[in-house]
Amino acid sequence: MLTPEAIFIDGRTGDIPKANEHYTKPVAELRGLYRDTAAFDTYMAANPDAVGYEVAGYRQDSSDIFFGTTTMYPGKIGEEYFMTRGHYHVRRDCGEAYYTQSGRGLLLLQTREGETREVEMAPGICAFIPPDWAHRSVNTGHAPLVFVWFCQTTAGHNYGDILTHGMRRLAVERDGHPTTIPNPAFPF
Ligand code: F6R
Ligand code: ZN
Repeated sequence: MLTPEAIFIDGRTGDIPKANEHYTKPVAELRGLYRDTAAFDTYMAANPDAVGYEVAGYRQDSSDIFFGTTTMYPGKIGEEYFMTRGHYHVRRDCGEAYYTQSGRGLLLLQTREGETREVEMAPGICAFIPPDWAHRSVNTGHAPLVFVWFCQTTAGHNYGDILTHGMRRLAVERDGHPTTIPNPAFPF
C-alpha cells in the first residue's frame, strides 16, 4: 500500500533528497536543438563537459501522479538560450504544471494545429500546461532556473516531433534582452 509522505524540495538547487529518479542532460547531447551549429561547436570545444539541465523525480509506480524538479543551467549558444529538448506527452489527455522556484525563464508552448504561447517563468508563477500542448523551457537568466513539475505517471514523452522540426518559435537574446522570433527552419 502507498503511504503519504513529506518530500522536501530545495527550490534554490532543485535537490530532492528522497528523489528516486535522476538524470543529467549534457549540452553535448543537444546539438540538434540549436540553429547556429558553428556556435555550438565553438561552445563545446571550450566547455566539453557542460551540463544543460538535471531532472530529479519522486515516483511511486502504482500512483497516478508524480512530481520532481528540473534545474536548468544558464548559458547561450549563438543567440539562443539554454533550453530543454521539448516534448508532447504521449497521452494526449495529460497536461502538466510547472511551478518556478528560482531563476528566470520562458516556457514555449505550441499545439499541433499551429497555435503558440509563451508563459513567463519566475518565482511564484505556476504555469498551466494544457493536454496536448508541446512544452519547452528556456533559461533566459544568469542563474539556475529551477521549477517543480507535476504530471501523471503514465503521460509519457513524445520527443520525436520537436526533435525533427524544432519548435515554431525560438527564444533568443536581442539587445541584451530575451525575446522570441519565428523559427525560420520550421516547416510551416
Ligand atoms: C515531464 C516534463 C519535465 C521535462 C524536463 C526536461 O513531462 O515536462 O519533467 O521532462 O523539464 O525537459 P525535456 O523532457 O523536454 O528534455
Ligand atoms: Zn512534460
